[in-house]
Amino acid sequence: MTQPILVVTCRYPKDVEDRIDRDYNARRNPNQLPFSQQELLSAAAGADAMFITLGDQLDSEFFQRVSPTVKIIATYSVGFDHIDLEAAARRKIPIAYTPGVNNEATADIAMLLLLGASRRAYEAQELVRTGAWKPLSPDMLLGWQVGGKVLGILGMGRVGQAVARRARGFGMKIHYHDRSALPAEIAGDAVYHKDPSDLLRASQFLSLHAPETPQTRHFLNAKAISLLPPGAIVVNTARGGLVVDEDLIAALKSGRVAAAGLDVFEGEPKLHPEYVSLKNTFLLPHIGSATIETRTAMGMLALDNVEAVLHGRPAPTLVPALSWKVA
Ligand code: DGY
Repeated sequence: MTQPILVVTCRYPKDVEDRIDRDYNARRNPNQLPFSQQELLSAAAGADAMFITLGDQLDSEFFQRVSPTVKIIATYSVGFDHIDLEAAARRKIPIAYTPGVNNEATADIAMLLLLGASRRAYEAQELVRTGAWKPLSPDMLLGWQVGGKVLGILGMGRVGQAVARRARGFGMKIHYHDRSALPAEIAGDAVYHKDPSDLLRASQFLSLHAPETPQTRHFLNAKAISLLPPGAIVVNTARGGLVVDEDLIAALKSGRVAAAGLDVFEGEPKLHPEYVSLKNTFLLPHIGSATIETRTAMGMLALDNVEAVLHGRPAPTLVPALSWKVA
């Protein structure tokens, strides 16, 4: 029996690769670099399905030109801001994503950033690694304690809730904003703010967990920053596009924001160069979901979706959008 053709744009953890090799005729990207759009379109010619990542930008032109043989596109991510969903819907191509499997790993990284920023981990590392560490002086590298402080969570979905669970263990008080309040049994003692401005006013620490959409893009701009308590600490593991980099950088320089822990950047893997030159930033290269367990689970879920659609079964996690509903 001939195996379905699957376009595979990246290298995945071993178990995922083994499943691809077992079940598909894989058309792989020979380079480590993302496919150009033309290469992606050529690879898709005659293919049954595509398995892509955040690095692949699927815009309206892509969907106008993509092969009619493609029955599903699965992205190896919970975010889908790199895909023009309306254009996919016009072509009636279902888009699958990987929700629910990266919560814990991403929440761990949010805590790493929160602690790294508040305890000045970058400067501390620098002292140790450059040999500049002098005998203990009581005012060396004084940071900001997290216990007893308010952690504001923008976006109280699965990752936001996982961060809240961890932060409570550090003695933080949880406040949040989302489109609606959580049921009391899930919210527990977390304080809901219907208006995001009220969340900002309360947030001594702010952690972003909203998807990037036209509504949330550039949420954290100069005006929003001006509402934060002076000396607030900002953490972002969601999407770089939620932040206006110039505004956050200005606030980090003035001390209006004391420190920032960032795992995601607008335009990544490029980032605003001033983030790197600031000492009060703790920066990571988008590794929120980067554990063997999570990255394997993401790959398996993406492949479950591909398999379901190609076998005429309901796909477990299609993007909740127009794509498969358009008449
Ligand atoms: C996602 O799943 O969208 C993460 O940002 C990448 O792992």
